[in-house]
Amino acid sequence: MGLEQVKTLELPVVSDVRGNLAVAEGGALPFAIARAYWLYDVPSGSMRGGHAHKSNQQILVALSGSFDVVLDDGKARRTVTLNRPDRGLYIPTGVWRELENFSAGAVCLALASEPYDESEYVRDYGEFLASANR
Ligand code: TYD
Repeated sequence: MGLEQVKTLELPVVSDVRGNLAVAEGGALPFAIARAYWLYDVPSGSMRGGHAHKSNQQILVALSGSFDVVLDDGKARRTVTLNRPDRGLYIPTGVWRELENFSAGAVCLALASEPYDESEYVRDYGEFLASANR
């Protein structure tokens, strides 16, 4: 998989005078959600991510605030800024990601296709490049 498969998902929103409600629901997403986790209280200047996944797909949503996602498939690099709670960034397997420039109070929701399994992470960039260009 590469950067061509990365895509922005417009999540359906139900709005009324009480506010907005955005939905991420199984059938409308590229995968069935097995796990959700979120990053919050990220100190200014901190970088998260710094890995790729062998089998786990993800969707990232900036529930609050903003941050940049640097995507790299071993051939090209691209940065996507997430700053809307009704937009999801779909990241397929085999894409290195780094999350940076978190605004104060930013919250990053991650929806994952698999339960947590450290053995499917690639955390070494050299190893990632070698497998991406094989
Ligand atoms: P890490 O992968 O470094 O977070 P990031 O997504 O910012 O790169 O994970 C930090 C720690 O949390 C690491 O020890 C693994 C653990 N962890 C879990 O136990 N469960 C999870 O679902 C996740 C995503 C991480």
